[in-house]
Amino acid sequence: MTQIMAGPPAGEPATQRKQRAQIKARTLRTDRWWLAPALTFAALTAFVIYGVWAAFDDSYFVEPYIAPFSSPCLTTACDEGARFLGWAPVGDWWPLPPGLLILALPGGFRLTCYYYRKSYYRSFWMSPPACAVNEPHSKYTGERRFPLVIQNVHRYFFYAAIVIGLILTYDAVLAFRDENGNWGHVGLGTIILVVNAILIMTYTISCHSCRHITAGRLNHFSRHPLRYKAWTFISKLNAKHQQLAWASMISVVVADVYVRLVAKGIVAFPFA
Ligand code: FES
Repeated sequence: MTQIMAGPPAGEPATQRKQRAQIKARTLRTDRWWLAPALTFAALTAFVIYGVWAAFDDSYFVEPYIAPFSSPCLTTACDEGARFLGWAPVGDWWPLPPGLLILALPGGFRLTCYYYRKSYYRSFWMSPPACAVNEPHSKYTGERRFPLVIQNVHRYFFYAAIVIGLILTYDAVLAFRDENGNWGHVGLGTIILVVNAILIMTYTISCHSCRHITAGRLNHFSRHPLRYKAWTFISKLNAKHQQLAWASMISVVVADVYVRLVAKGIVAFPFA
């Protein structure tokens, strides 16, 4: 039987001493509280492994589709049709696969996202693994010290993510061409890339940093009606940020896998 001790730990403020029960058990929860962190751990691990594999895979382009994990393609190692606006600003000095060049931007955006932070603090560091479950760590230093203070760069990753989102939207528009460059093509790949672009952009603008940028510092909404409207819209999306994080993560993997299957000849036109 679980024993609840009445004695307060030394050194804590009197108010906390009265409120906090000392429980020897790791948790009194009887539900499957471990399921959510376990699934999150598995999904995020699979996502990272796939992302690294995709960055090294060279089947990332087939007219008119480019795989999202490798876009924008900025080096001369990229197929000419795959280059962003036909441009290769990095030239040939980058010796590694082109996908590795841009992986840090969307990767850093998700890594420092407020929602993902909560999910991987719980599932990877067990800090804590779930509500009302003891964490294994003896102390908590928060995000105000090194190294976690670095998470504050999130707002800068947000600016980069907006650019990446716009480029993926541009890629989705180009997917309305056929393999000969004629407009009017609508293949399964077109639909997948369009849905992915919408989810990526929606996830990006539902970001807490975006909400803050729209009207976070205003004292009088009445003096800034347009910013207030933008803030109201972003706030509604922001309430769905967790769902958008998962939906866009799944969609970007589906879109990326699909384009690579077409590029490898496993899925063939005209059905592609
Ligand atoms: Fe999640 Fe900014 S808080 S993307």
